[in-house]
Amino acid sequence: MDELSRRKMLMITGGALGALGMTTPAQAQSHWTWPASGSVAGAGAGADPRWVWDEEADPLLASILDRGDVPRVNTLLRTWTRNDQPLPAGLPEDLRAFMERARQLPAWADRAKLDRVGDFIKAKGTYLILVYGLGGGMMSTAIPAEARAVYHSKGGADMKDRIAKTTKFGVDAHALNAYQPDGDAIVSSVKTRLVHAAVRHLLPQSPHWPHTGGQIPISQNDMLVTWHTLPTLVMRKLTDWRVRVSAAESAAYLHLWQVNAHMLGIRDEYVPATWEAAYAQSAQVLDPVLAPTPEGISLADTLLDMASEATGPGQPVTRALLNSLTRYLLGDRVSDWIEIPREPVWDPLVHNGLPLWVRVREGFITWPLAPPISWTLDELIRKLMLFYLGEAKPISIEIPDTNRPG
Ligand code: HEM
Repeated sequence: MDELSRRKMLMITGGALGALGMTTPAQAQSHWTWPASGSVAGAGAGADPRWVWDEEADPLLASILDRGDVPRVNTLLRTWTRNDQPLPAGLPEDLRAFMERARQLPAWADRAKLDRVGDFIKAKGTYLILVYGLGGGMMSTAIPAEARAVYHSKGGADMKDRIAKTTKFGVDAHALNAYQPDGDAIVSSVKTRLVHAAVRHLLPQSPHWPHTGGQIPISQNDMLVTWHTLPTLVMRKLTDWRVRVSAAESAAYLHLWQVNAHMLGIRDEYVPATWEAAYAQSAQVLDPVLAPTPEGISLADTLLDMASEATGPGQPVTRALLNSLTRYLLGDRVSDWIEIPREPVWDPLVHNGLPLWVRVREGFITWPLAPPISWTLDELIRKLMLFYLGEAKPISIEIPDTNRPG
């Protein structure tokens, strides 16, 4: 679709009206009151991020798709794996110029904080796997815009491959050398930015897309929503569980995700500068959008089946435990929406045992007093970690050139 058609689509969906601040459809009225003074930029135009996408990457990827260049670009980009590596020769000139800009860290990136975050990740890795995998990952299925985008895009037909690619980004961004010259996080985030821009061009062409509202997907607002299912949810859970996190660790972890956000193409004026600003933004953008969709229910079931297959093939007990952990992390309302089955045996065990298990891990109570579920949780998370890390390695994040077939 050319740029004019995209604008027409916006007009149809009310997006242009919203962008112009005109008052007609209820959905076009701005709900955006989060102040840019709370962002890493410290100031901004205050545009409602529901009507902002990625103005640099989107027209570029639309053009690359329309020119039929995606297979050639993917082949070339497979060889680009390290932050300090020059871009492969032979890339289209407009793409190369964009990627040279996009691979630069923001001026406000703080090397000391990025170096320090490794200690936090090593110390809290167990909780991170649990909350990213069964918290954020499952919550994304209760975010209608994301569930529909994931389901109807190319990767929706092969969730195993999609998880492997998403995990690749997660592993690269959490590696000790993530943003060092020999790390991979810049590569993975710039590639992901390209993927998202391609999806913005492709999905509106899907025959299923008009039924889902028709708007151009992956707005800046959508990106922020997902961002809050990741670091914000992690920090909220660690706080709820009274896990010891020093001020320096907390600041470093936030900083990692601020840099991730920038590198994924989120505008600095929307990236929270503090945890307080993040919680306030999360309450505004994430909490009100959670809702069930047929796509989300289907994805939730697929994801839990896959995790269950990876951690205890053929054992019904693993799926039941994963159901309970998901329910514990997301709460009853969201879990019921995405149709996580209730587990009469495991639900109370997890509900009572998980907080105690955290107390044991944190050294507040000794092993003899550990709840019976402790060993099971340790073992499950060890297997989840092996599954995710094992899946991550040989995969390259690639630009899609079609939607989900059929
Ligand atoms: C692709 C991460 C936000 C929809 C990807 C990929 C990664 C990623 C690593 C590449 C893996 C792949 O190609 O399968 C993230 C992160 C986000 C974010 C870290 C926010 C912090 C979103 C949002 C949406 C979305 C908000 C939708 C509303 C998609 C879709 C794909 C994708 C549809 C392509 C799947 C395909 O290959 O067809 N994302 N994403 N993402 N993402 Fe995101």
